[in-house]
Amino acid sequence: VTLYIPRDAVALGLGANKVARALFAGAERRGLDVTIVRTGSRGLFWLEPMVEVATKEGRVAYGPVTLKDVDDLLDAGLTTGGDHALRLGDPETIPFLAKQQRLTFHRCGVIDPVSVEDYRAHGGYRGLENALKLDAEGIVAAVRESGLRGRGGAGFPAGIKWNTVMLAKSEQKYVVCNADEGDSGTFADRMMMEGDPFNLIEGMTIAAVATGATRGYIYLRSEYPQAFETLKEAIVNGVKAGVLGENILGSGKTFHLEVRLGAGAYICGEETSLLESLEGKRGIVRAKPPIPALKGFLGKPTLVNNVMTFTAVPWILENGAKAYADYGMGRSLGTLPIQLAGNIKHGGLIELAFGITLREVIEEYGGGTRSGRPVRAVQVGGPLGAYFPDHLLDTPLDYEAMAAQKGLVGHGGIVVFDDTVDMAAQARFAFEFCATESCGKCTPCRIGATRGVETMDKVIAGIRPEANLKLVEDLCEVMTDGSLCAMGGLTPMPVMSAITHFPEDFRRAGDLPA
Ligand code: NAI
Ligand code: SF4
Repeated sequence: VTLYIPRDAVALGLGANKVARALFAGAERRGLDVTIVRTGSRGLFWLEPMVEVATKEGRVAYGPVTLKDVDDLLDAGLTTGGDHALRLGDPETIPFLAKQQRLTFHRCGVIDPVSVEDYRAHGGYRGLENALKLDAEGIVAAVRESGLRGRGGAGFPAGIKWNTVMLAKSEQKYVVCNADEGDSGTFADRMMMEGDPFNLIEGMTIAAVATGATRGYIYLRSEYPQAFETLKEAIVNGVKAGVLGENILGSGKTFHLEVRLGAGAYICGEETSLLESLEGKRGIVRAKPPIPALKGFLGKPTLVNNVMTFTAVPWILENGAKAYADYGMGRSLGTLPIQLAGNIKHGGLIELAFGITLREVIEEYGGGTRSGRPVRAVQVGGPLGAYFPDHLLDTPLDYEAMAAQKGLVGHGGIVVFDDTVDMAAQARFAFEFCATESCGKCTPCRIGATRGVETMDKVIAGIRPEANLKLVEDLCEVMTDGSLCAMGGLTPMPVMSAITHFPEDFRRAGDLPA
């Protein structure tokens, strides 16, 4: 009997290793022959650790399984899909999962992440095989026609970036994956790297073939030790299986891939400081132009994309640009891996076509707040994203629609707050976060963030709140217009959205003298 137990960081945090060991030992005591495959997570975090068993009728899931359930489950016939209070049935029929459009995450939680064989048995490498039949222009055209936009947050058309690198003349070019997923409430990159790393590797390989790069790096945040181990194992297996390194799939093409660890700086997720860090230097933002597509790693043309951008590509090359562009709305095409977190009953990963509203995500998938209290604020797009009040929750997740409400999609992270949240404290936190994480290169951000914390402290203490709020607004204008990168440039977004949508939280204290 084969059991599937995630080795994803969330499942591990909830005791998946202990459950796996106990299940194995318990099965042995009962004389049952079990093989345990460690998978990624399907992203239904409130059900983790979720254990699945292969039966004649397909997979049957149980969850959340704790150590004390193990004997009970084995006695109830877990290995044959037997009945139990924790039995969830076919995991694919759980509404949270069944309603999704998993183009990029369909293998995550299903396969053995480090097995090339398992990956290929589930459709892997068909995208690269198709890409190898095209010339570079053909691959870039497919990416362009799919409408794929950079999933790191900026939403820049991927096809245009790929084209820029493809056309750049250089002896050496590079492909770099930004896996420094630093936004609060985001975990899509991590889940993918832990659950289906070959999807990323295949996407990067297609990018290398298209742009003429022969070397690639995955810049991974050091806070992801499981992803680090999984990626390293996958790369070694990939080279052995002939899908990485020299003569990929017998095509004569070369692509050498390495994983590099960051050291815990948020700003190293900004592409130019990421490249500085990759070169072994301190992660300080470079002025653009030149753009990395022309002058990036070691001064050479470099394609920098986020994990989610690369992992969308194999599906596009396998199924066609048109099929991908059929999902989504307006200029936001394809699917968005939404990460639902914060005060939410059912947190996890929801991959859906662009266009679903925030309210639908929170109510239909998330099941409302975990505390059972009303939703008051929702922050979308990480710590630099806007806080939306109830009346904006019908905004669809679409780059332009979110921007029209002075918000952003970002990397697709949604963090929910109930009515106990103090929005003045959240505005102060945005400045504090910026002060801590600023690289210090430009004055509006380096000095502005610290002045912002001080001024917000005065507002919160009730010291001339009206005058000090005006100062905060002026400061936000300077930071928006004068910062060199998105760190300082977008910090005003959470601050101003909190002031605009939740003014009552900023004017509670009395007007004390300065
Ligand atoms: P950007 O708009 O400056 O650039 C977007 C991308 O397009 C860059 O890779 C840039 O080099 C490229 N580009 C621009 N013009 C080009 C051209 N003509 N040809 C080829 N490539 C071109 O935005 P930036 O600063 O890269 O990203 C800001 C975004 O990052 C924010 O909107 C925010 O949502 C997001 N973000 C994401 C985080 C995460 O953890 N994923 C964390 C913090 C911010
Ligand atoms: Fe550095 Fe902040 Fe300026 Fe960005 S905005 S370059 S993080 S100081």
